[in-house]
Amino acid sequence: MLLKSVFLITLFFFFFLFPLSTSSATSPPATVCIVGSGIAGSSLAHFLRRYSLPSSSRIIMFDRNPVVGGRMATVTIAGHTFEAGASILHPKNYHAANFTEMYKLGRKKPVRSESSISLAIWDGQRFVFKTMSVESKSPLVQKIVSLANSVYMLFHYGFSLLKMDNFVEDMLSKFLKYYESFETRPIFETVDEMLKWAGLYNLTTRTLEEELFEVGLSPLLVKELVTVITRINYGQNVDINGLAGAVSLAGSGGGLWAVEGGNWRMAAGLINSSDVELHLLEEITSISYLGKYYELSSTHGKTYTCEVSVIATPLDEVNIQFAPRISIPKRNLQHTHATFVRGLLNPVYFGMKAVSEIPELVGTIEDVDIPFSSISVLKQHNETDMTYKIFSRKVMDDALLDDIFSARTDTIRINWAAYPHYNAPEVFAPFILDSWHLYYVNAFENAASTMETSAVAAENVARLILSRLFGDGPRSSPNCSSDEEILHSDL
Ligand SMILES: *[C@@H]1O[C@H](CO)[C@@H](O)[C@H](O)[C@H]1NC(C)=O
Ligand SMILES: *[C@@H]1O[C@H](CO)[C@@H](O)[C@H](O)[C@H]1NC(C)=O
Ligand SMILES: *[C@@H]1O[C@H](CO)[C@@H](O)[C@H](O)[C@H]1NC(C)=O
Ligand SMILES: *[C@@H]1O[C@H](CO)[C@@H](O)[C@H](O)[C@H]1NC(C)=O
Ligand SMILES: *[C@@H]1O[C@H](CO)[C@@H](O)[C@H](O)[C@H]1NC(C)=O
Repeated sequence: MLLKSVFLITLFFFFFLFPLSTSSATSPPATVCIVGSGIAGSSLAHFLRRYSLPSSSRIIMFDRNPVVGGRMATVTIAGHTFEAGASILHPKNYHAANFTEMYKLGRKKPVRSESSISLAIWDGQRFVFKTMSVESKSPLVQKIVSLANSVYMLFHYGFSLLKMDNFVEDMLSKFLKYYESFETRPIFETVDEMLKWAGLYNLTTRTLEEELFEVGLSPLLVKELVTVITRINYGQNVDINGLAGAVSLAGSGGGLWAVEGGNWRMAAGLINSSDVELHLLEEITSISYLGKYYELSSTHGKTYTCEVSVIATPLDEVNIQFAPRISIPKRNLQHTHATFVRGLLNPVYFGMKAVSEIPELVGTIEDVDIPFSSISVLKQHNETDMTYKIFSRKVMDDALLDDIFSARTDTIRINWAAYPHYNAPEVFAPFILDSWHLYYVNAFENAASTMETSAVAAENVARLILSRLFGDGPRSSPNCSSDEEILHSDL
């Protein structure tokens, strides 16, 4: 288990589950405006319907982009579709799992079994760590190689690996509390309260590095493997908060997956089945509270009135004028450049003789002179024709790519305002931005940013909205199944 799990050096994760609901059948309808159509906005719409927002209520959703999905998006190269943003789901991402099942979306496994992915850690001069890679489809050979690699990893990092595993498992077991039923799980008005209840708050007050030294990890493991993982997942080093760090390390245990055709399809399914009036390519420029309702203005020169307004996108890089003004802690987003290259790596760049000596995943340690965070093979079209994904903090310009690649036929660059730039101790914006009905789902992103954590935050905000609108809020009554409102849920 340990040997297997430590070998999985993988990407983004998100966890989850669902409670039952009831209706506020006699409550008056309300219009809810949602800014953002990513996983936060789409799952919020879903949970509002599921938890029985009065059926005649309108949900109006805005997105400045031409498509839904936010930071879930795909690129197509050589006829193959690849995740460009949020990529990987963890087996315990129960909300994502249910969304995928509800809309009959397929699950895609990583191309190779994770245990046979070869990994190397590049320090700018040489590979300080490199696993073995064997081109064999034989499960037995793969198993032997995987075992040999695990033993090598254990030899290199020692029993610190075990401590790392325990650290992650402890975080995961606490996170699972967010899937408990309404009977035992309160509605949270603040992120702080939500984290404290699950026992996760303290992790956000210190850096990952501090947490890991405290549990006794070796400095070598932190400097190499852990840093590689945080750089891949969050584009940052071990200074990120301990919770984001633990989430980042949680890609262990196997079973990582993604949605066939793209993770954005979860958002598409949720929106399509939640009776949402969707306005794409329409940016909200102001939100004004006019007493009993909000007036939203958009770039189309239109205005909308809603009793409830929800921000389901990071406020850091949007330009919305709020009246009255709101005040939230300052936060920067970490930009990650995802560069897709079809071509072939240049072994000379890595001091190798042949491309085949370069592992499928090249991670890097923290060093300002290394121009990328990771390079991984997404698809091998043939021996000299591959598709790669590179993560970097700065744009990968042509001159640099020409150094790293010996051949290059397609290049696609995406600059993501990907996740918060983490800073321990984290200071959280509130879920409730004013004293009325202006909400902010992405306040939770300072804890950790994943598809699943966004769904978990949205689920709580849906309960919060209903309880504040209708007093008692959604209760988990075992007698609710006879209520016709429940038919509104998306199952
Ligand atoms: C997912 O769906 C299953 C089956 O409908 C249900 O039992 C479970 O509670 C759901 N999980 C979550 C997290 O909602
Ligand atoms: C969090 O830290 C505080 C202050 O150091 C401590 O009193 C509390 O017990 C800790 N909580 C958990 C769950 O570890
Ligand atoms: C929306 O849902 C309907 C069924 O409710 C389905 O027929 C249709 O294909 C869905 N559209 C999209 C874009 O998912
Ligand atoms: C690999 O694919 C490229 C582009 O499709 C092609 O030009 C090349 O001949 C192929 N090489 C081999 C060895 O099949
Ligand atoms: C639920 O149903 C049971 C039996 O049908 C009944 O005894 C109970 O009072 C009901 N509870 C509520 C909250 O209506």
